[in-house]
Amino acid sequence: MLIDGQPTRTIWPTPDGAVEILDQTRLPHRVETVRLTNVEDAVRAIADMQVRGAPLIGVTAAYGMALAAGADPADEALASARARLAASRPTAVNLAWALERIGRVLADLPPAHREAAAWAEAAAMAEEDVAACRAIGEHGADLIAEAAARKGGGPVNVLTHCNAGWLATVDWGTALAPIYVAQERGIEVHVWVDETRPRNQGAALTAFELGQQGIAHTIVVDNAGGHLMQHGMVDLCVVGADRVTSTGDAANKIGTYLKALAARDSGVPFFVAAPSSTIDWSLTDGVAQIPIEQRDAREVTHLWGSLEDGSLSWVRVASPGSAAANYAFDVTPARLITAIVTERGRVAASAEPLRTLFDR
Ligand code: MRU
Repeated sequence: MLIDGQPTRTIWPTPDGAVEILDQTRLPHRVETVRLTNVEDAVRAIADMQVRGAPLIGVTAAYGMALAAGADPADEALASARARLAASRPTAVNLAWALERIGRVLADLPPAHREAAAWAEAAAMAEEDVAACRAIGEHGADLIAEAAARKGGGPVNVLTHCNAGWLATVDWGTALAPIYVAQERGIEVHVWVDETRPRNQGAALTAFELGQQGIAHTIVVDNAGGHLMQHGMVDLCVVGADRVTSTGDAANKIGTYLKALAARDSGVPFFVAAPSSTIDWSLTDGVAQIPIEQRDAREVTHLWGSLEDGSLSWVRVASPGSAAANYAFDVTPARLITAIVTERGRVAASAEPLRTLFDR
């Protein structure tokens, strides 16, 4: 998608054997890239959220394995790199999925062939992610078209939480891809953007993306969604996911569950957009089984942003000395999800339809 009119991706390999990423801790204030040259750089980029969003975390881990294979392709070194990458963030299952996939490819090869194979597999995963997100966009745009037809005039109002746009993937995004495809189809859309405390991925990243793409949007505080939905100001909610169980429960950024509750109370359809790499087929109960990341309390007690002089800084907002807890994700039970939009189409959030759609 576009930054300053230029098609841009979130991650790409360089001709000299490194990887570059857009540094998402600097957006929207600065467009800066960071060069990853070894597996520790990849681990740090994921843990510090220079890259974030489930699909992008997975692709970054895959490129991390390619960097690791370039440094030392022996079994023990690769196992250690894989363990360090796997521990970098716990909730998005795309990370484990990507490491498992690249691990399977490398295990079958002699060490001398592993580096080239890892680069090729990581690149294939990046391209597949782009294709899956584009397909999600097509299927999701049908939902927006249906909402437009139901309304019979005026923009379709979509509410989204966090950032599940192209910055959370390699390109296109999941929850925002339907909006980009709807724009291509000439459907008028307005997006309510939840600011998404504590790290403000909505206010900083989703708003940046939509602004660069020329899509009408309004940032609201996280607690505004219920009010907007009660007053008929939201036609549908679309969010991403970090892990979807085989039964259709979906973990996503903290606060997603509350939006789903409000949507149910007001009769607003609530969609989860996610590629199959986000489905954890081994789990059946999201609330009980999905690990929820707890991050540094500083993200709650402080805000990161741009000061009047243009410098980037943390600013304390909380009373000094108070404890703070930082649960990064929550789980929306399948019963609150109208449908899941995948690269293979729209599917009910329950075990049998999911199994059938993905031939499991
Ligand atoms: O903590 P983050 O910014 O990695 O959380 C991101 C989200 O919760 C996204 O909604 C999710 O990963 C889906 S990304 C297409």
